[in-house]
Amino acid sequence: MSKIAAPRGMLDILPAESWKWQTVERLAREVSALYHFAEIRTPIFEHSELFHRGVGETTDIVHKETYTFEDRGGRSVTLRPEGTAGVVRAVIESGLVNDVGARVKVFYLGPNFRYERPAAGRYRQHHQFGVEAFGVAEADQDVECILLQMEFYRRCGLRDLALRVNSLGDRESKQRYRDTLVAFLTPKQAQLSEDSQRRLTTNPLRILDSKDTNDQAAVRGAPPAAESLSDNSHRHFERVQHLLGAAGVTFRVNPNLVRGFDYYTETLWEVTAGGLGAQNAIGGGGRYDNLVEQLGGRPTPGVGFGSGIERLLLALESQKVDLPRPPENLVWLVSHGPAAKAANWQLMLQLRRAGFTCDMDPGDRSVKSQFKVADREKAAFCLTTGETELAANTVVVKELATGQQETIPRDQVIDRLRR
Ligand code: HAM
Repeated sequence: MSKIAAPRGMLDILPAESWKWQTVERLAREVSALYHFAEIRTPIFEHSELFHRGVGETTDIVHKETYTFEDRGGRSVTLRPEGTAGVVRAVIESGLVNDVGARVKVFYLGPNFRYERPAAGRYRQHHQFGVEAFGVAEADQDVECILLQMEFYRRCGLRDLALRVNSLGDRESKQRYRDTLVAFLTPKQAQLSEDSQRRLTTNPLRILDSKDTNDQAAVRGAPPAAESLSDNSHRHFERVQHLLGAAGVTFRVNPNLVRGFDYYTETLWEVTAGGLGAQNAIGGGGRYDNLVEQLGGRPTPGVGFGSGIERLLLALESQKVDLPRPPENLVWLVSHGPAAKAANWQLMLQLRRAGFTCDMDPGDRSVKSQFKVADREKAAFCLTTGETELAANTVVVKELATGQQETIPRDQVIDRLRR
């Protein structure tokens, strides 16, 4: 029979790597808890309309990259391409943002799906650690999110990070900027790539971060977003920069940073990491003060970020940073004969109850081959029982790293292993 491969652009997380995922996820949970963000889990697919209204009809993500299909009831559903829209839907639906002044701070971990051309660091299923904070319009909330994100990277041991920030301003500023940009680019229309000629009417801001060299040449000299900011938006962005500086965070203002979602207003940011090549954005976020209302909720400001776990792990690998690996301390039980095996079943039960990871060979292989398996499994200890030990009610404890071994009474095994 022919083998079945995973769908293109989808990765398995195999046992040898799963500890890294668990470590990163644990660090994400710990930092979130310290910053007082609680976990939220939303469905992996939603009604397609959510992403059309939330992320934006004209964005590449919705326009070209969603996995959309009809369910058996004939409803159009979409695998989530990102986390924000679903979280916003959930906090509205559950009434969490109903009350005036409600403040909600949530984090999430989970997969997202984008039908992109797979490349190094770009997959069709990727995982994000993200946070969303609702109810606070002040710049303090933007900066709290950024600090949380940077603290997460610090705890993971990531180096060579660059934080870039920009502001599109409020709805009016954004519209003004859009008009300015269209006026600037229309005379250069013929120079633009085919995609960007279309964007000129649908989503002109995206032309700014196009990877196409013709587009890049055309946008050179374009007026920066900062010039279109209203006084309020200008003050907001100034305060973001002031607070970041006061917290000792290094950053740069990048006037061309726009990011791929329609929902952003005011502050935007992106973090890149060295060692990643072309797909070097490990996380990005921004403010979205109109999104809750746009999705049917009471007007509520929001801000958050999403950070790719695959890219984080790739960056750590290429930077040769080792994540803290939890000690495994696997205990392997070795039995010489069926009576010893029966006794070891009992011992294994006790050890597992006492919190030790243990295992043994299920068959009746020789002691030598049982030791071989223990070695292969990287056991820390082998506990051997044979007839002599059974008769004396003892067990031979061997520490595999040092080769040291001692015979101890069976009822003292747990104490010995705890040492
Ligand atoms: P995003 O920039 O599209 O933002 O994604 C966040 C991060 O997810 C990226 O910086 C990248 O590390 C990772 N990522 C995205 N697409 C892929 C992919 N195809 N393969 C591997 N990694 C990928 C958002 O998704 C927004 N929802 C972030 C946000 C939350 N803004 C406000 N709140």
